[in-house]
This record gives sequence, C-alpha cells and structure tokens, in this order.
Amino acid sequence: MTSTVITGIGELTTNDDELGTLTDAALVIDGDRVVWAGPAASAPEADERFDAAGRAVLPGWVDSHTHLVFAGDRTAEFAARMAGQSYQAGGIAVTVEATRAATDEELAANLRKHIAEAAAQGTTCMETKTGYGLTVAEELRAAKIAAEADEVTFLGAHLVPPGEDADTYADLVRGEMLDAVAPYVGWCDVFCEQGAFNADQSRRILVAAKERGLGLRVHGNQLGTGPGVQLAVELGAASVDHCTYLTESDVDALAGSDTVATLLPACDLSTRQPLPDARALLEAGATVALASNCNPGSSYTSSMAFCVATAVLQMRMTIEEAVRAATWGGARALRRESGDGAVGVLRPGARADVHVLDAPSTTWLAYRPGVPLTHAVWRKGTRVG
Ligand code: NIG
Repeated sequence: MTSTVITGIGELTTNDDELGTLTDAALVIDGDRVVWAGPAASAPEADERFDAAGRAVLPGWVDSHTHLVFAGDRTAEFAARMAGQSYQAGGIAVTVEATRAATDEELAANLRKHIAEAAAQGTTCMETKTGYGLTVAEELRAAKIAAEADEVTFLGAHLVPPGEDADTYADLVRGEMLDAVAPYVGWCDVFCEQGAFNADQSRRILVAAKERGLGLRVHGNQLGTGPGVQLAVELGAASVDHCTYLTESDVDALAGSDTVATLLPACDLSTRQPLPDARALLEAGATVALASNCNPGSSYTSSMAFCVATAVLQMRMTIEEAVRAATWGGARALRRESGDGAVGVLRPGARADVHVLDAPSTTWLAYRPGVPLTHAVWRKGTRVG
C-alpha cells in the first residue's frame, strides 16, 4: 500500500469534533484510509507527497439522494416547466418507459457515467435508488445494477404505475417485490405524497422493509405539507428527503428525532418550488443534509457545489453549515459518519475520500458560485479527479 502526505493545506475541514478546522495543516492517507491529520509542522513522512499549495481540503461530498438507474431524459418536460407548467409526480412514468426499454449494459453505463461526473466534482460517496422499474423484474434488475453506488435504496414505491390500483400495487411492493430486491439493497424508501403513496400505503411498505432489516428513508413534504415527515420520524427513518413544505410540528418532530432532514435545493429550483426553511430546522436543532437528487426529471444536476452555493446564497445557511450538511450530514443520513471507514469526515480511520479545492477556503464555494473549484479528488485513497 502506498501512503501519501498532502502538505500545504491552507484550510483543512475535518468535521471531527476534536480536530476541528485547521490552518497550515497536513493529511496522510495510507491505502484506503486516512491515517493522520494535524498541523503541517508535525506531519509524518509518507511514500508520496502532494503539495496543496495553500488550497482548502475537505471530505469528499456525500450525496445521499440520487436516482441514477434510468434511461432517457425529460428535456421537454423541463422546458415546459420553465414556461409555466407545474411539476407532477406522474412525469416519472416517462422515465419508467425509457428505463424498461434499455438494456442492462445501457443502464449500467449511464449510472457509471454519472458517478464519474460527480466524482470529478468532488463527490466520493453516493447513494442511488431503484424506482424507474415498478415491476418485480424491473426493480430487481435496477437493484442489481445500482450496486456500483456506495448505498442502494429500493424505491418500488416511487409511483403507482399508470392504470394500476394504488393499494394493490402497494401490496406488491411490500410483498413479492421487497422479497426479490431485499438481498441487493440496504434501504427502502417511499414517495409519500399526493399523487404517489398515501400515509397508510407508505407505512405498510416501510414497516415490511423494517421487518426485513432494511434501513428506512422517505420522500416527503416535497409538493405540499403532508404526512411524510411525521411518518419518517415515527418509524425511525434515517432520513426524510425534500422537506420543502414543513409545518411547525414537522420541524419540532425532526428536531426531537434522529431522522435527518435532507434538503434538495437543486430540485426545488428546477421544479419552481420554494426553497426549504433550513434556518428553522437548524435553529430548532434538527440535523440537516444537502443532496443533489440527481435524476432526469426534477433535478438533473450532480453538482453538490451548486447545492452548497444555493444553500448559502438563498437559504441563509452559513458556509460551515452548508459544507457540513453536504459532507457529514449526508454521511449521517446514510448512517456512515462514524466508525472505521466513516465518510464525510477526515480523521484517522476514516475512508480516504479527500477533496482539494482550487481555492484557499470553503467560503469560495459560495463566493464564486458556478465556477468549477475542484482541484483534486481521492476516493478510497485513489485519485479519481
Ligand atoms: O426526488 N419525488 C420523487 N422522485 C424524484 C423525482 C423523480 C422524477 O421526477 O423522475 C424526486 O424529485
């Protein structure tokens, strides 16, 4: 195994309570792990040396919400939205049709292309979902293809297939479909929203998944207030994603729980929804994550830097809050922020997922919005960007 010392770090964001943020720092990686972080003056020797020349270094982005097993695009739908039409959950059916028509190789190549695109921008840990198959065979196929991502979520309950009865389909999802995909996924998610699945259907599916040992996630409160957040908290979901429309009691429930509020600002912009009230969540004490929601319908970007800049410029998050939410927060939403091989943190024992910015501090992510600022990226100790 080769070790590398990254020297000349102008600002090192560790997300570690003891190490904090360091200036004039160094970091040593050995194999796929971080083995040392601290002041440059006391850095140990390593086989190789990388001079960051005063640049900022932070953990790679942890993108905890994407939908990347898909084919086709929805350019026309996007253009229609920009001309005034509203976003409808039913648009998902267009991608379902294109995905079913694609070969395994085409779907895998598309997923790989997007993972590489994200890695080149500093994303080193990515969750992705099924949800554009909606039959037992197609969801199983998607779950197997999705294995290239760090975390795989079963989202058979993404949309009731057009023409089918919602309760009958929900029973299929929590029965035969869950049985088929469970060996290939770590998580189960439900789109709990008007036009998709109601609270009862969502609860039944999530309870069945929990009984099978899967972790839970919920798409909730995206298009209006609704039961998604309360259901996620009630069932101990790791994360409830979107949180665009929250009542005070939703905010209180999140603040009093271990459920992460994962905000998806690129999606809200792309669907012409308001941006979520991050300040209310943070001030109440809720844990907040930021994710891209990269998918061909509601949010076709893999740029976590764009999400961070939006959170700072338009959602009144501080730079530190936004960067932490896009790294440690995403890791927490995937329950991967602690222990050996943790992501979203830079401390001895963490996975060597390192993002060197072409900037002296993370402030530049919002100070220079839209400008590519990734200088170098390591994932599991290997240079990927
Ligand atoms: O997270 N909300 C549901 N699912 C996706 C949208 C997927 C699509 O429109 O294709 C989302 O925004």
